[in-house]
Amino acid sequence: MQTAEPTGRFLIRRAGASDADELARFAARTFSEAFGAENTPEDLALYLARAYGPAQQGAELRDPAWTTLLAEEGTTLAGYAQIRTGPAPSCVTGQAPIELFRFYVDSPWQGQGLARRLMAAVDEEAISRGARTLWLGVWERNARGQAFYRKCGFVDVGEKSFLVGTDHQRDRVMARALNSSDAAPPQRSQR
Ligand SMILES: CC(C)(COP(=O)(O)OP(=O)(O)OC[C@H]1O[C@@H](n2cnc3c(N)ncnc32)[C@H](O)[C@@H]1OP(=O)(O)O)[C@@H](O)C(=O)NCCC(=O)NCCS
Repeated sequence: MQTAEPTGRFLIRRAGASDADELARFAARTFSEAFGAENTPEDLALYLARAYGPAQQGAELRDPAWTTLLAEEGTTLAGYAQIRTGPAPSCVTGQAPIELFRFYVDSPWQGQGLARRLMAAVDEEAISRGARTLWLGVWERNARGQAFYRKCGFVDVGEKSFLVGTDHQRDRVMARALNSSDAAPPQRSQR
């Protein structure tokens, strides 16, 4: 994706350094809304302090191993995705893996088809970086996330741990092959 690309009423574009503050606020809020109720306030606070903030997101946005995509409706941020190169767990056996590290759609836009559009943009970006396999970790208790990823063709290939504050949680690891035909899958759930 070389330039901002209109996809229906949404615009999906690569984030730049100037997006760090808004991304940090959005990412912390959407994480809290998705998972806050199922974690203790102490663990949540520890995790938020470590994972989100203008400095942290600024560093991610400057890191060439990462790409962050923002989905906007007008001037409103509606979702974001981050992919990054790095080591994959041994259960990910596909060639040239890249990690889908964060993938969030704000609640007003959930169930609206934005997530599929954002995933298609992730595929396009990952393929342009030379990746052949997209993998991710999703909390074993995140049934909606797993259902969405299965709809996108991911299969469960194993597990890994993920630390939220002091809580060692178990993530399912899911993966699928990337190719140009996967980048625009049939939009069964577009509504
Ligand atoms: C995960 C996420 C991106 C998916 O986007 P979405 O717009 O909600 O996705 P969709 O509505 O297209 O698909 C979700 C599927 O889960 C199903 N679902 C909804 N609630 C569910 C639940 N509690 N348990 C199981 N499945 C559920 C939906 O019915 C839908 O399947 P269907 O289209 O066959 O009916 C979005 O929900 C989100 O951002 N959630 C919070 C953050 C998050 O969990 N991110 C992933 C972290 S790894």
